[in-house]
Amino acid sequence: MSRAGRSLAVRGAWAGVNCNAVCGDHPAPHGAVGDPGAVDPTTRPLIRATDPTTRPLIRATGPRRAGVDLAAADAADVDFVRMILARDTATPQSCRKGTKMDRSAPPSHDLLEIAVEVAREAAATAHRMRAEGVSTVATKSTVTDVVTAADRAVERQVVDALRRARPADAVLGEEYGPGGGGPAGPGGVRWIVDPIDGTVNYLYGLPYCAVSLAAEVDGEVVAGVVRNVVTGEEWTATAGGGAHRAGTRLRCSTETDLGQALVATGFGYDPARRAHQARVVAELIPHVRDIRRMGAASLDLCLAAEGRLDAYYEKGLAAWDLAAGGLIATEAGLRVAGLRGRPAGPDLVVAAPPALFEPLHAHLADLDADGGP
Ligand code: IPD
Ligand code: CA
Repeated sequence: MSRAGRSLAVRGAWAGVNCNAVCGDHPAPHGAVGDPGAVDPTTRPLIRATDPTTRPLIRATGPRRAGVDLAAADAADVDFVRMILARDTATPQSCRKGTKMDRSAPPSHDLLEIAVEVAREAAATAHRMRAEGVSTVATKSTVTDVVTAADRAVERQVVDALRRARPADAVLGEEYGPGGGGPAGPGGVRWIVDPIDGTVNYLYGLPYCAVSLAAEVDGEVVAGVVRNVVTGEEWTATAGGGAHRAGTRLRCSTETDLGQALVATGFGYDPARRAHQARVVAELIPHVRDIRRMGAASLDLCLAAEGRLDAYYEKGLAAWDLAAGGLIATEAGLRVAGLRGRPAGPDLVVAAPPALFEPLHAHLADLDADGGP
């Protein structure tokens, strides 16, 4: 059986693992929601509609609107897209009350509170679907770039939940693209979601995959949460409010010697890009303690935020890979940027403590890490 057609039948690794039971890592996020242990989200029925594991996935071909292939979508997909598009014409709550429309964004800790609640339920769904066995996968950009039924179901759930909580906001998701255009005018909020970061790990039953959800106001990420679907570890941050896990404020590594630094990276799905990335990593590895490629960019950034990795870099990240983890890393003291004064983005993301940034940057610039395909 091909990898893309691989069955996600239940395997020992984390089938039936209840993150609430195994990690003991569930305090309220800083200034956010209450004890999630009160209700075990892994046992709650979160998707009441048709079980998406029994429906075939749609392929990304044909005319697209709002990031979704309407021509190929089945009825439930089309309903979902219509719902997203209807957001363009949705009446904001403030207007319904007959008051002047208020476009000012709420405080970032309020956005974080929503993000955490939504991400926890989303992670519970991903966990449940994996334990039940997800049998349907399709491919996206290349044959190794897979999407499972869970990626789509989780993103739908997140969009639904955000729509209930904040109907006027925009959403950008990895699987369904932009929902309802962009936030209209100053103070507009856009949510950025990767329903499952580390999809290949999810496919193989490896416990390194996460839900990543961030809130952006006027183009700046102000709140973010990354939650490991398997272990329940959860990282949060607000702009200017610090990064936290398990109630502890996070600080990045204090390592100052690149030669002693454990550096994570990742590879894209395009073979030509991978060849370039492999050349870069081959030249870099003699200059660092070691390299890690664990398979979920958002989690790599979170581990760097708490010094479990010293630094991280990668070419080709999308907004949903970077948004929440990038804020968490920044708030933990890492410098998060591109090469040669550019901001972090698709060309390259370098996240390193201040003392390591320049030497790592120098190697990556020499190696043309942001070049190539
Ligand atoms: C991928 C993971 C991986 C990174 C890739 C990403 P996905 O996201 O974060 O670690 O190297 O660049 O595309 O496809 O699992 O959501
Ligand atoms: Ca993903």
